[in-house]
Amino acid sequence: PTRVLTGITTTGTPHLGNYVGAIRPAIAASREPGVESFFFLADYHALIKCEDPARIERSRREIAATWLAAGLDTERVVFYRQSDVPEIPELSWLLTCVTGKGQMNRAHAYKAALDANVAAGEDPDAGITMGLYSYPILMAADILLFGAERVPVGRDQVQHIEMARDVAARFNHLFGAGRDLLVLPQAEVEAEVATLPGLDGRKMSKSYDNTVPLFEGGPEALRAAVARIVTDSRGPGEPKPTEDVALVTLFDAFATPAERADFRAALHGGLAWGEAKARLVAQIEAQVGPMRARYAELMARPEALEAVLQAGAAKARAIAAPLLATLRQAVGLRAMV
Ligand code: TYM
Repeated sequence: PTRVLTGITTTGTPHLGNYVGAIRPAIAASREPGVESFFFLADYHALIKCEDPARIERSRREIAATWLAAGLDTERVVFYRQSDVPEIPELSWLLTCVTGKGQMNRAHAYKAALDANVAAGEDPDAGITMGLYSYPILMAADILLFGAERVPVGRDQVQHIEMARDVAARFNHLFGAGRDLLVLPQAEVEAEVATLPGLDGRKMSKSYDNTVPLFEGGPEALRAAVARIVTDSRGPGEPKPTEDVALVTLFDAFATPAERADFRAALHGGLAWGEAKARLVAQIEAQVGPMRARYAELMARPEALEAVLQAGAAKARAIAAPLLATLRQAVGLRAMV
């Protein structure tokens, strides 16, 4: 079987970008015949970006409830919390020892922090932890420990998956003795919605505060967020542009090709922006609304979520342990099982 794996960092409330970029394609992949899936809550990664324990705890619940409400079937998918699988940080160390520092110097997240410091005239390393610096190695461990071939993600994660491939190839070269100990993963990015824009047209992201919540706050929160989408000053009756317009890209992510064509025609024909926003809300709500009741039920039962995650962790560890034993042996450590 082919293995599909993806994770979400538990630092915020799931937004439309997470849904369209990762959750929706991952769940669709998990339903394909012959696929084994691993979806997880990246709470070790959360520690890098967030020093608020209560926020991480809340986010973990929200993301867990979101996956289940969006249709994750725990019979088909191994669904777990990263921090419940100690084999992941252990593999992360084995990988750290074969990863060049120069390679990590090129990671986008680290470089962005460095560039921001330089632009602000500060010490280039100010506030940069080893966690941020090594972030791609922990992510490589997430992926390689389960032999994942396919990793559905948004475009912003592609570099990390390429780094995981490089690390795996190097590990195989050094320790494989002709065998492929680690599987080389491949990013899977939905071409049409590789990067969903946020309210201001930049990438939808927790760090830009431009997100549209998927379930939280109900349809009112969705409507309020959509009302904040930036448009131009063309009035009702005037033809509207549809290229590179955040509102249209958001609509596309929830529409069939025929609906997309209709929406464009209406905008070219002078549809008011206010009316266009109402159509966008209706379009998103048609897909998301039916899942929201289930989300609310799950959020009200933290013990049930906890039980699901612990059962998932037990399955994940049973799968991870034999590979880790092989890797320990390959590098010259005792092969604990
Ligand atoms: P995170 O938590 O930032 O985002 C989770 C997923 O949502 C996608 N995404 C988007 N897709 C399209 N448009 C957007 N505006 C948008 N915003 C977010 C992301 O690309 C991602 O797929 N490092 C990862 C979590 C992670 C992981 C992994 C992923 C840890 N280990 C192993 C895959 C495999 C992250 O911080 O994603």
